[in-house]
Amino acid sequence: MNTPDFAIAIMAAGKGTRLKSRRPKVLHEIGGKPLLMHVIAAASQIVPASSIYVIVGHQADAVRAAIASTGVHFVDQPEQRGTGHAIQQVKAHFAANGITPPRHLIVLSGDAPLIRPETIAAMRDFHLSQHAAMTILTALPPDPTGYGRVLRKSPGSPQVSAIVEQKSLTPAQLATPEINSGIYAFTTASLFAQLDHLRTENAHGEYYLTDVAALLVAAGEKVVALPVDNVDEVLGANTIAEMMYLDAAMRTATANRLMAAGVTIFRPDTCVIDASVTVGPDTIIEPYVQLLGDTVIGSDCRIRSYTVIQNSTIADNVLIRNGCILDSSTVASGAMLGPYSHLRPLSDIGENAHVGNFVETKKVKLGKGSKANHLTYLGDAVIGSGTNIGAGVITCNYDGVHKHTTTIGDRVFVGSDSTLVAPLTLADGAYVAAGSCITQNVPEDALALTRVPQVTKEGWATKRRNKQAAKP
Ligand code: UD1
Ligand code: CA
Repeated sequence: MNTPDFAIAIMAAGKGTRLKSRRPKVLHEIGGKPLLMHVIAAASQIVPASSIYVIVGHQADAVRAAIASTGVHFVDQPEQRGTGHAIQQVKAHFAANGITPPRHLIVLSGDAPLIRPETIAAMRDFHLSQHAAMTILTALPPDPTGYGRVLRKSPGSPQVSAIVEQKSLTPAQLATPEINSGIYAFTTASLFAQLDHLRTENAHGEYYLTDVAALLVAAGEKVVALPVDNVDEVLGANTIAEMMYLDAAMRTATANRLMAAGVTIFRPDTCVIDASVTVGPDTIIEPYVQLLGDTVIGSDCRIRSYTVIQNSTIADNVLIRNGCILDSSTVASGAMLGPYSHLRPLSDIGENAHVGNFVETKKVKLGKGSKANHLTYLGDAVIGSGTNIGAGVITCNYDGVHKHTTTIGDRVFVGSDSTLVAPLTLADGAYVAAGSCITQNVPEDALALTRVPQVTKEGWATKRRNKQAAKP
């Protein structure tokens, strides 16, 4: 078997003590996805998932379950004794499973989610061109406090002498501006030769992966640093505030990508748009809109303020007025929704159809040009084209135990405030009179009504008022 040249290890076993959260740090979300998912997505652009090793420890089962679908390997680190200890587990994993170590090992942090594949590739290429044992991705943030600092052999030299953690910095070293991103490329044999030499005599009593730099230098090996252009890309998420900063950075990048592709987004800073969302040109997104998950929006649409769309597909020329909520639904071209329409999962709104205010739909197919404009609940229904559903109509789809389907044909007119007790079929062209409770099928072009005939008593109101006035 060929030895693959590169594998990637992602450190994700830590607790994230600084978050003060019960959830493991790497499962906290930014841009609509767990931190770790972003890192795996970037890593997958460099090597296949079968060459990615995710080190899990704290709440390992939850982390494994959340990312199992990616096809990566897992390496257990049941006790988290530092980043050096995490990589010791990778070495042990290779040995225990008879895996020939890859020639080079890239190490990423599960809590540095903005890293781009292009940057990992640049580090890989720099590492190869320098024939280095260790290449450290570095940055020069405005405030380096908290990060490990990278000490160069001499100013301007690509060569590094050591990485010093914040708590071990001497007063003279405190001013060192260059930080360690926690992202590295190693020549695996050189790395593995030093792992057993790590010691825990430091502020945290942990095995620091960062100490490998000085050990390699002492062994006569070459350690180099490559600074990134964009500091944000390597920032770690150690606190909720840091995470929300990264979330904003990621969403700004998404909004900028969409705007560069012809989408108008008013006040993009107020919108929450996941990185996975796509939007066609000439669509206008108003302030305070959320577009989440695998949402796809066509061109020439207008999405008005306070609408939240999740995992839904919207065709071209769709108007979604203020305050709509859409989940796992489809809307065909020319349709109009809202204000305040609620499309629950599996709503399928046809071409040029209208769904109006306070209309709730669930598992519904509303045909071409059909309208349900006011105060209606449509659940488990198949509705044809050119049909009008009056204000206040309700499909009674649930008998307390089972759900039943309402089938409504083309050109049907359902009068206001009618209740349609499923299972039920209203055939093409049928009419339902307002205020009816329909429990039996209505044939084509028939009228169904269940109203009690109206009684009108002439002069009744005058008589009653006179009687009331006469009372003492
Ligand atoms: C680390 C670096 C620091 C660097 C910073 C960049 C060390 C000693 N320090 O510090 O130089 O500036 O990252 O963000 O490496 N992890 C494990 N197992 C463990 C401990 C940690 O898998 O036993 C994982 C964590 O889940 C996390 C990553 O390693 O994803 C980094 O650990 P963290 O504790 O956040 O290190 P920093 O203090 O940020
Ligand atoms: Ca960190």
